[in-house]
Amino acid sequence: MSELSVNHLLGIKYLKEQDINLIFETADHFKEVINRPIKKVPSLRDITIANLFFENSTRTRLSFELAEKRLSADVINFSAASSSVKKGETLIDTVNNILSMKVDMVVMRHPNPGAGVFLSKHVNASIVNAGDGAHEHPTQALLDSYSIRERLGEVKGKKVVIVGDILHSRVALSNIFALKLQGAEVKVCGPKTLIPKYIEKLGVQVETNLKKALNWCDIANMLRVQNERMEISYFPSTREYTQQFGVNKEILNSLDKEIVIMHPGPINRGVEITSDVADSDQAIILDQVQNGVAVRMAVIYLLASKIKQ
Ligand code: CP
Repeated sequence: MSELSVNHLLGIKYLKEQDINLIFETADHFKEVINRPIKKVPSLRDITIANLFFENSTRTRLSFELAEKRLSADVINFSAASSSVKKGETLIDTVNNILSMKVDMVVMRHPNPGAGVFLSKHVNASIVNAGDGAHEHPTQALLDSYSIRERLGEVKGKKVVIVGDILHSRVALSNIFALKLQGAEVKVCGPKTLIPKYIEKLGVQVETNLKKALNWCDIANMLRVQNERMEISYFPSTREYTQQFGVNKEILNSLDKEIVIMHPGPINRGVEITSDVADSDQAIILDQVQNGVAVRMAVIYLLASKIKQ
């Protein structure tokens, strides 16, 4: 397979396993490029990309911008807080105004699930979903699987537990789709109130005992509790959440084996993960961030190749 089966990256659920393999092979090449003294290639000199962020971001926004610049694309950045969206402009009007400036690709983060799919049907540009509400965050799942492959050789056959607020997490859903597509086994672990009822239909098992989940897995992906998406309390207190679902050195040392710890960020230190774990050699959190640039370069490069045809 030499090209993606899709024209947009809207979610992992639209990809085939071969798409993921192609993205990873391309990312391997770009990872080598960004470790050279001159970290740039001229591949996308004729492409203009708009990064539209309607929701806060540190890692994803900077990682996409760097990936685009490493590929020599022209880049414009938009943040909702300082835009005319505040004056009542619709999403389609905002994006069409930006596209009239001859933009080829839109990378968008939006609080509403499905915003990227909606946009792809109404505007003439390649759309990359950089996180849409509690729905999907496809490039995060790709960089997570790429980091597992880098640390453990392959994703197929690996046992991954995703711990925390599964209900509000786009990272969890995209990771489940990506991991299952590549032949990994997946469990989720967290308070019952933060695990969606449909989860087992995705071929995922539920384990509410953290120690059992950690003893089963090769990799634990620790998620933050997304208080900003909660209108009610889903557990009695943060202290009790940490006691039951927080990972610390003591629990890791009590396991039969050494597991790999992941976290998509931002971390709430001392809540879902202690600092001594987050900063240990067992954790690949900063590798995930570093790999994000190469993986996003691969996604943008492969989608841009389809625009150019
Ligand atoms: N992992 C992630 O999406 O982080 P940001 O919200 O900082 O982009």
